[in-house]
Amino acid sequence: MQLLAAKIDRFLETSSWIRRMFEAGIELKRIHGPERVYDFSLGNPDLPPPPEVAAALHELADHLSQPPGLGYMPNAGYPEARERLAESLAREQKTPGLRGRHVVLTCGAAGGINAFFRAVLSPGDEVVCPAPYFVEYGFYADNAGAALKPVPARPGSFELDLDALDQSITADTRIVLVNSPNNPTGAVYSQGVLEGLAEILGRACRRHGRPVFLVSDEPYRFLTYDGVTVPPVLPLVPFSVVIGSFSKNLGLAGERVGYVAVNPEMPGEDRLVAGLVMTNRILGFVNAPAIGQRVMTAALGSEVDAGVYRRRRAVMADVLSQAGITFPMPKGAFYFFPRTPGGMDDTAFVDLLMRQRILAVPGSGFGCPGHFRLTFCVDERVIEASAEGFRSAVAAARAQGAD
Ligand SMILES: Cc1ncc(COP(=O)(O)O)c(C=O)c1O
Repeated sequence: MQLLAAKIDRFLETSSWIRRMFEAGIELKRIHGPERVYDFSLGNPDLPPPPEVAAALHELADHLSQPPGLGYMPNAGYPEARERLAESLAREQKTPGLRGRHVVLTCGAAGGINAFFRAVLSPGDEVVCPAPYFVEYGFYADNAGAALKPVPARPGSFELDLDALDQSITADTRIVLVNSPNNPTGAVYSQGVLEGLAEILGRACRRHGRPVFLVSDEPYRFLTYDGVTVPPVLPLVPFSVVIGSFSKNLGLAGERVGYVAVNPEMPGEDRLVAGLVMTNRILGFVNAPAIGQRVMTAALGSEVDAGVYRRRRAVMADVLSQAGITFPMPKGAFYFFPRTPGGMDDTAFVDLLMRQRILAVPGSGFGCPGHFRLTFCVDERVIEASAEGFRSAVAAARAQGAD
């Protein structure tokens, strides 16, 4: 008997490797013990929130009987949370005109992307994004009746391929969605590249007589390495929004606090904000969680100890290099996206890794076969202990003909 909508049945099949990894992880940990399984498959930040979060929670608990309590609030979020966040984003985005009224608090960046997509997309519209990409984007576009149109990034560096992006924009393109620092590649787009993209979008808007929005999904903005900075996007084009969250920088992923910040220079920006408030409500989010918003407001400006990620990145780079695996060094976020040895099929190589009790995700799942993703949201010692497994998996791949 058909329980599910046919499309959800299909989605379950096409994303079955996520489930497979998850189930394989549980099984391997049961058999070998959790300390002998090297699980690099999940992007679940493991660092404790900064002390400001605990302090804010205590403060909140001590004053719960005072208004505003934990009841309903305006759908866009607490006015104080919007104002404080806008002050911080105005600096970060070099956009002094950004005010609380331009910011809508959402259930994570995921909720923000869905609210934005629902607000501006109609059936038949396209969302262009560089591949590889965060796999959920395709489902989010579909939620709004639209289609994701991945455009391969430059091989090797995973920089934006501006010519390819330019050529992929049609009269149906409503959004170009970029994510920097990038999941899964760790790429960070430079000012020059983003200016090039802005020019393309400006031309596309004029050509098609309607906005082509630049959407910048930035939950990893705080996490870059070797002095790399993430340029602000709002000054680039008027039809732009920034979507972010506190899942990674405050370690609040389960608390679901994110935002959409609308460019104050956008013609009709208040109408877009009204649309976002509406879609945030009717998608059933209603508002971002009260506790998370209040903790975020109090802890704004603090963050998890990013030095831990820096050390892990160095250790993982060593482990992979010593195994003969090649990769672009991530400039930001907490992912490596190496090539499979000899360009071997990525699912086959991920299977070889699994035989060494190493869990990774095949690049095909991110629209980029021939690669695999490793997350360094795990203790440095686990990364070190996985070295032998990587070497054995590469040797097994070579024995099968990969060189
Ligand atoms: C690129 C990217 N965008 C959005 C999200 C959603 O994050 P959240 O909804 O927790 O803010 C994630 C989560 O891993 C991500 O990697």
